[in-house]
Amino acid sequence: MKVLGIETSCDETAVAVVEDGLKILSNLLASQHDVHARFGGVVPELASRAHVEHINPLLERALDEAGIGWGEIDAVAVTRGPGLIGALMVGLASAKAVALGLGVPLVGVNHLEGHIYANFLEHGPPEPPYVVLLVSGGHTMLVHMPEPNFYEVMGQTLDDAAGEAFDKVARFLGLGFPGGPELDRLAAGGDPEAVAFPRAMAGSGDFDFSLSGLKTAVIRHVRREQEAGRETPAPDLAASFQEAVVDVQVAKTMAAAEEKGVPTVLLGGGVVANSRLRARMSEEAEPRGIRLRYPPLELCTDNAAMIACAGSFRLQRGERDDFDIAADPGLRLA
Ligand code: KG4
Ligand code: ZN
Repeated sequence: MKVLGIETSCDETAVAVVEDGLKILSNLLASQHDVHARFGGVVPELASRAHVEHINPLLERALDEAGIGWGEIDAVAVTRGPGLIGALMVGLASAKAVALGLGVPLVGVNHLEGHIYANFLEHGPPEPPYVVLLVSGGHTMLVHMPEPNFYEVMGQTLDDAAGEAFDKVARFLGLGFPGGPELDRLAAGGDPEAVAFPRAMAGSGDFDFSLSGLKTAVIRHVRREQEAGRETPAPDLAASFQEAVVDVQVAKTMAAAEEKGVPTVLLGGGVVANSRLRARMSEEAEPRGIRLRYPPLELCTDNAAMIACAGSFRLQRGERDDFDIAADPGLRLA
């Protein structure tokens, strides 16, 4: 079964072809970072317009690279939420047009479910149950999955998402957009113990997160130092901020796995591209005998292969959607 995947929930237009749920035949991306960079964040209206411009050429190229014709597509999977309403609508309209034109089934996919299934691509699903840490530009949550397609949200951020915190602190430090990757790079040359930033909610005993205070702490620290005529080097600031984020995420993820007694932890979302998060998670999982899985870098950030993968599993369970399904910007996982 060859499934065409379409993802347009935020600022990447993405199209992929995935065979039998796991094998990536093509996985293409038209990034809009240049469009939004000068605004320091995603401008929804510009995102929708860029999706409209990119989607058709990308569809053609995805089939070309997969080496197949339109007649070989068996189904279409598309992100229907959460995300920007206008951006989602472009992908959904395209998916409906293709599915209707080809006379094949259409299935709507939750973007967060896509980030979880990015772990299944090429290797297949690990044996459930799992605990999943989802960390992206819009979400930070811990999810317990006793079985596939059953999501119990254990906790989530009370304010900013992890990626959002990276982007805001990066912006404050004068780095480019999106800030996560640049901050990661800068932090590699810094001392993570230079500044003891707060580990918010580390001892709260639950699985919720709070990240907006950390961003404020970075800004306050810099102002205080300036007033005292001192300056903390940017790499040290970046490394210390990153360490504070990663510390709490690692501790809560390990605690969640222990509370649920699961042998496997999955990581998903753009922030999983962070080198320090990957390294620290591996260090902590190993002595606990926890099997850790995270996607390769290019499948951590938004892509359509993960949507095609999640959609394929839905289709295999006999699920399909009607052609009148709507985009849902606030679509929930559970
Ligand atoms: O999953 P994603 O591509 O889009 C959303 O669904 O939001 O995640 C994007 C987020 C951005 O905030 C970006 O700064 C962050 O992931 N990110 C990173 C890194 N690469 C991307 N954050 C920290 N370190 C990275 N290496
Ligand atoms: Zn995402």
